[in-house]
Amino acid sequence: MYSEKVMDHFKNPRNMGEIPDADGIGTVGNPVCGDMMEVYIKVKDKCIVDIKFKTFGCGAAIATSSMVTELAKGKTLEEAKKITRANVAESLGGLPKIKMHCSNLAADALHHAIEDYYKKQKIEEAK
Ligand code: FES
Repeated sequence: MYSEKVMDHFKNPRNMGEIPDADGIGTVGNPVCGDMMEVYIKVKDKCIVDIKFKTFGCGAAIATSSMVTELAKGKTLEEAKKITRANVAESLGGLPKIKMHCSNLAADALHHAIEDYYKKQKIEEAK
């Protein structure tokens, strides 16, 4: 069964939506079930000042996306890079074993968004 925290984040997801002028976007698909997640970040002085997500997936995927945005908001990019798949699941009080693959999406999407930000920065610097 899902923990109370998972149910809370599923029913009241934090930071859901899109950032139209995001500095970095991470998109991942879950090879196990085909669900999709997108994470948008806004960066200032190497800190994640805003973060939002869009998830087309199961309840566990929505809860983990919501949790990862809470974990990453206000962190430096270096700190946010260290948020692991396990951190996300632990912060939600654990997930049923068959749902662990869902929690992978959130951390991966965050890391992709950070990589995307760095990539865009390099392009800007080269201009
Ligand atoms: Fe697809 Fe959970 S079943 S992300």
